Amino acid sequence: MFNIYKKIVEEVKEMERNAPCWCGSGKKYKKCHMAIEERMRIHADRGEIVPKRKLLKTPYQIEKIKESAALNTLVLDSVAEKIHIGMSTEEIDQIVYNVTTKHGGIPAPLNYEGFPKSVCTSINNEICHGIPDKDIILKEGDIVNVDVSTILDGYYSDASRMFTLGKISERAKRLVRVTGECVELGLAAAKPWGHLGDIADAINSHAKAHGYSVVEDIGGHGVGLEFHEEPFVSYVTPKGTEMLLVPGMMFTIEPMINEGSPDFYIDEFNDWTAYTIDDGLSAQIEYMVLVREDGIEVLTK
Ligand code: MF3
Ligand code: CO
Repeated sequence: MFNIYKKIVEEVKEMERNAPCWCGSGKKYKKCHMAIEERMRIHADRGEIVPKRKLLKTPYQIEKIKESAALNTLVLDSVAEKIHIGMSTEEIDQIVYNVTTKHGGIPAPLNYEGFPKSVCTSINNEICHGIPDKDIILKEGDIVNVDVSTILDGYYSDASRMFTLGKISERAKRLVRVTGECVELGLAAAKPWGHLGDIADAINSHAKAHGYSVVEDIGGHGVGLEFHEEPFVSYVTPKGTEMLLVPGMMFTIEPMINEGSPDFYIDEFNDWTAYTIDDGLSAQIEYMVLVREDGIEVLTK
C-alpha cells in the first residue's frame, strides 16, 4: 500500500519536473523554476515570508513591463527638460499626459481611485500625492517630487524624481542629497535571497544618522501587472525581516524622508495629499526594481 502510494507521488513529481515550466520560458520545470521554488521552500520552512508564485514575473511579463518602464523614464525625462520657475504644476500634468498618450500609454494615476490628474507633484512639506493645479506655481527654492506611473499594453511602471528650483536653501539641499543616498544604499543592500528588511534597514539607518525620519505608514509596493501589488514595502523594518527577495519579484524602492517627524496628515479638501505634521520638508525618490538571479536591476533609470 505504502509503496504504491509512494510510486504515484514520484510519478506525479517526475511528470511535473519534466513538464514545461509554468513561466512560459519553454524550458522544462526542472531546468527552470524548480530550483528557485525548492530554495523558497527551505526559507518557508524556517517561517520566513515567501512570495506567492504570482509575484514572480515571467520572462514575457518582464519584457512588457520593461517597455512600460522605458516610456515612464521618457516621460520623466520630458518633465526634467521643461520644469522651471514660474511654471504651474498643471503644466507638468499636461506634459505627462501628452508624452504618455503620444506613445500609446495611459497615465496610471488618472482616475485611479478617484485621483483627478495624471501625475503627483509634491512640493516642500508635501510628502506625496500632491495634485497638480493651475494655481500652484513653482518658485525659486522649491523642492518638488514628480511621481510618474505608466500603463503600457496593460503593464505598469512607477518612478519618481526630485527637482530643485533655482537656488535652494542648504537644509533643502542636504535633505535631497541624503534622500538620494538613502535610495542608493537601499539598492546596494538588496540582494536575491536577502529580505526586504535589508533595504529598509539601510535606508532608515542612513536617514536617522542625518537626524531625519522615514515615513512609516506609506511605503512601496509590488508593481507590474497591477499598479499596486503585494508586498507592501516598508522602509523602517529591521534587516533580515519581511519578504524574501526571490528572482522574478518586482517592486518599488521609494522612501519618503522627512526633516522632522515621520507623522503626517491628509488634505481635508482633496483627501489625497499627505503633508508633514510639523511643516518640515519631505523628499522622495522612487526606483522600480527587478530581482534577478545575478543581482538587482533598476528598471526606471
Ligand atoms: N507612485 C505613487 C504610489 O505608488 C503614485 C500614486 S498615484 C495616485 O503610490 F493616484 F495614487 F495618487
Ligand atoms: Co509607487
